[in-house]
Amino acid sequence: MRTVALVAFITMLLCSISFSEDLPAGDRALGTREYDQYERPTVCRSCHADFYQQWTQAMMSQAYTHHWDEIEYFELAVPHAEKDEMVAGVKAGCNGCHAPLAFMAGDVPPPRPEENSRANESVSCDVCHTIIGFEGETPHNYNYISSPGRMKYGPKPGLESPHHETEQLDFIKQSEFCGTCHNEMSPYGVWVKSTQLEWKDGPYSKEGVRCHDCHMPVAWAKNAKMAEENWIAQHLFHGAHDPGKLAGAVELRMHPEEREVELDGIVAIKVQLYNAKAGHKIPTGSVEDRIVWLHVTATDSDGNTYHIPVDKKGFDGEEYTVASDVLAYQDMGLPLDINNFRGIQRDGVPLGDRIFRMPYFDPQGRMTIMQWNTKELGVDYRIGPRETKIETFTWELPEDIAVGKIMFEATLNCRKLVKSVADFLEVPEDESEIMLINKTTTWIEVYD
Ligand code: HEC
Ligand code: HEC
Ligand code: HEC
Ligand code: HEC
Ligand code: HEC
Repeated sequence: MRTVALVAFITMLLCSISFSEDLPAGDRALGTREYDQYERPTVCRSCHADFYQQWTQAMMSQAYTHHWDEIEYFELAVPHAEKDEMVAGVKAGCNGCHAPLAFMAGDVPPPRPEENSRANESVSCDVCHTIIGFEGETPHNYNYISSPGRMKYGPKPGLESPHHETEQLDFIKQSEFCGTCHNEMSPYGVWVKSTQLEWKDGPYSKEGVRCHDCHMPVAWAKNAKMAEENWIAQHLFHGAHDPGKLAGAVELRMHPEEREVELDGIVAIKVQLYNAKAGHKIPTGSVEDRIVWLHVTATDSDGNTYHIPVDKKGFDGEEYTVASDVLAYQDMGLPLDINNFRGIQRDGVPLGDRIFRMPYFDPQGRMTIMQWNTKELGVDYRIGPRETKIETFTWELPEDIAVGKIMFEATLNCRKLVKSVADFLEVPEDESEIMLINKTTTWIEVYD
């Protein structure tokens, strides 16, 4: 048995040397490990109980099992990979970030989540704490180097554990560590996820504020049940799925150009949006799915409410940033086996509202939510870290408006997944629920 295994191993090694030279670093790791080389999170739980509970609440522990991930992978990505040679690699590749153990064990596609295999461990403790660096120039597409074993790499030197060895590693403390999974290049060579690159270009990297400082904040606490208290990095990994993280991420203020307006006059309201809280653009990450939009209404003294569309600015590609009722996402027809698929509603938010987004285009130039099928990106109208955008809403007062005070309300909302796509693919509602980022008000006085 041993010899067979050894021969198999040597053959595999030779094959990987001769055939995989030109594969990117991440892809070369496919099938080079076994599940058994990694410990289960429940093992870590017995001593690191607090971290375990934090992690189970974070998306990290659900990267493979979460309903929308399951639907997108099994209904769209896998069938697409089987029909289109160009994207064949994603059948394995999605797992490099979402189910690293399955990827490294070569178990692709992994069993469905309901089968409760080890793929379900998603981005587990032992995935992250056995990463020792990355290959190449830029961290992206799971190009981390995994070195499983008794040694667990962490931020502090000289710690002793009854269960494993520990070693301090600078890499785990750097944003590049996160970038190995939070930057993604499509098979067409397009950056379809660039959170770490956005951070690097932005103000926070220059000030030494890392991903960890906002997503793994330190608190005076314990590392493990039997450890001394210290400054400890909390394993929150809270992002767009946490209403509290999203709340106030963008600050809103608005004011009218004039406080007093005549009955048949025109009002111009300006809204400032300041990305005060995020170290990258808003939205970032799964930009193809997310929709962030600004909705402005006016209510007169009789209680009648009017919706005010945003003023167009006239930049290239602006049509993708103003809500309309056009159809999009036709490329889903291929994996779903729908001939001449007409597409579905692109935005599903009130017409004329401003959308902060960057559209992704398939090889036929149609907007797509299948980020792996992206050949081109459109206008980048997201809000950069510490950037302020100004939107103007010019409104000709309707004839039947009441004299007196008009209250304006601006609301900045987010959906993690465009509603039409969620409905069409039957993704459970929490993915397309409306999440409030912020709101603000102002007023004018209408006189006769
Ligand atoms: C039997 C108890 C026990 C188990 C099981 C255990 N650990 Fe630990 N671990 C400890 C103790 C104790 C320390 C040292 C804590 C201290 O002194 O602050 C430690 C330290 C660490 C460190 C170093 C932290 C740093 O600041 O550098 C890492 C990383 C780590 N453990 C990861 C894991 C992972 C991953 C697992 C599961 C695969 C695991 N541990 C399982 C007890 C355990
Ligand atoms: C200054 C604080 C700060 C820093 C630094 C920061 N983030 Fe964030 N991050 C936030 C806030 C606030 C949000 C919530 C707003 C949002 O979802 O866009 C967020 C959201 C996210 C999301 C969810 C985005 C979405 O829309 O789905 C991911 C993923 C993320 N961050 C990863 C990272 C990574 C990786 C880094 C480092 C390269 C990083 N963050 C650096 C504050 C920060
Ligand atoms: C996505 C990757 C990731 C996952 C998953 C993860 N960790 Fe960590 N862990 C880190 C990083 C990064 C740090 C260092 C944070 C820092 O220094 O700012 C860390 C720090 C630690 C520390 C030391 C904390 C300190 O500040 O002294 C321990 C112990 C630890 N992790 C254990 C675990 C356990 C147990 C699990 C699973 C329940 C787990 N980690 C899951 C990335 C991860
Ligand atoms: C091994 C790959 C991997 C590494 C390394 C990694 N992440 Fe993630 N992370 C993921 C995946 C995959 C998801 C998406 C889970 C989902 O929604 O399916 C995720 C989700 C998140 C989220 C939640 C986003 C949301 O929409 O709610 C945050 C925040 C986050 N990661 C931050 C970090 C930070 C900070 C680091 C570095 C300390 C890091 N990640 C390292 C793979 C990774
Ligand atoms: C380079 C690593 C990487 C690769 C490769 C990757 N993803 Fe992701 N994926 C992530 C990260 C990180 C997030 C979280 C980003 C965020 O929250 O904005 C994410 C988010 C998602 C989400 C949204 C989850 C949610 O709850 O909103 C889905 C669905 C998804 N990925 C499916 C896939 C599929 C299918 C593939 C393969 C075609 C794939 N991913 C390839 C890293 C990756």
